[in-house]
Amino acid sequence: MQGTDLASTLVSTFEQHLEGVLQYGLSVKDTNKRAINFYKKMGFQLEKEENHSFYLIKKLS
Ligand SMILES: CC(C)(COP(=O)(O)OP(=O)(O)OC[C@H]1O[C@@H](n2cnc3c(N)ncnc32)[C@H](O)[C@@H]1OP(=O)(O)O)[C@@H](O)C(=O)NCCC(=O)NCCS
Repeated sequence: MQGTDLASTLVSTFEQHLEGVLQYGLSVKDTNKRAINFYKKMGFQLEKEENHSFYLIKKLS
């Protein structure tokens, strides 16, 4: 299902259920270029890099 917009629909639907949450985060292996590009496209920003992983956060308004 990659490249079909299913992943962005899942993320958007998840965020709709985060009432009152200001930000959330996740980690991704630094070699997972597709996922990193996806998360950047979804508005995540780099928080820190550690142990071959990127820790990303997304601020919600
Ligand atoms: C990560 C994942 C959820 C992203 O969903 P997706 O449907 O593949 O994402 P997209 O097709 O929208 O791609 C996102 C961006 O990555 C980039 N991209 C696409 N194919 C790529 C590739 N082969 N290599 C690197 N970057 C790529 C593009 O910039 C794309 O943005 P664009 O559509 O504006 O061009 C999905 O690929 C997945 O389930 N991967 C396997 C599991 C995984 O890695 N999960 C994350 C664990 S942290």
